[in-house]
Amino acid sequence: MPNFRGRRFTNAHETLIWAARDKDAKYRFNYEAMKTLNDDLQMRSDWTIPLCTGAERLKNAEGKKAHPTQKPEALLYRTILSSTDVGDVILDPFLGTGTTGAVARMLDRRYIGLERDEEYAALARERLTGIEPLAEPSLLTTPAKREQPRIPFGWVVERGLLKAGQTLTDQQRRHTARVRADGTLSAADFRGSIHQVGAHVQKAPACNGWQFWHVELDDNLVPIDLFRQKLRAELH
Ligand SMILES: C[S@@+](CC[C@H](N)C(=O)[O-])C[C@H]1O[C@@H](n2cnc3c(N)ncnc32)[C@H](O)[C@@H]1O
Repeated sequence: MPNFRGRRFTNAHETLIWAARDKDAKYRFNYEAMKTLNDDLQMRSDWTIPLCTGAERLKNAEGKKAHPTQKPEALLYRTILSSTDVGDVILDPFLGTGTTGAVARMLDRRYIGLERDEEYAALARERLTGIEPLAEPSLLTTPAKREQPRIPFGWVVERGLLKAGQTLTDQQRRHTARVRADGTLSAADFRGSIHQVGAHVQKAPACNGWQFWHVELDDNLVPIDLFRQKLRAELH
């Protein structure tokens, strides 16, 4: 928010209202997309996004800021990615320079923009001309986990992507377990699913074995999830 003179706390945030029409209204929240965008950690509600400056900031003929409050595209990117789907219509009743419309187009959404100032409206029109989606829809959406087909670890073994007797380890190479022909793992004193053995060796209550266990592949340590993704891609 703008900073006013005076001895007081520096304004350092703006509040974004995230609301639905009423308590029974359906709404979209792309939890997986937000988690993925945040390095696999649930996205926090406080976001640090720099102001719109540099080449992104639209200038007028005199080289001055064309609009006093042009929003950063990164802010709209996160907002739109979190709460809409490809093809949805987004309404921005205060369009300004058209940031919402620009990012909506990039992410293959549609938009309706209202702007009462003729100059700003012209600026937005010009900006929005020719903006195309960044990529095809499959690259712009994150499938929800439940939408993805379940792949049992046994299928990876059955298909020979990992073989009975092969050794798996964690990323820090602190623990090892061997693959069994029936799609379970054997650690020194324990046998069970990739998740159970992962939890057991770490003395943890739970573990995502697909992410925890790794295997040496061409001199690289890769998560076994790679094989699950391969089988999923084949099913698609
Ligand atoms: C905060 S700015 C929006 C900036 C915009 N998000 C951007 O990135 O450029 C608000 C805009 O709403 C416009 N506006 C204010 N009242 C309006 C109204 N009643 N109808 C249409 N536009 C309006 C103003 O002219 C101004 O450009």
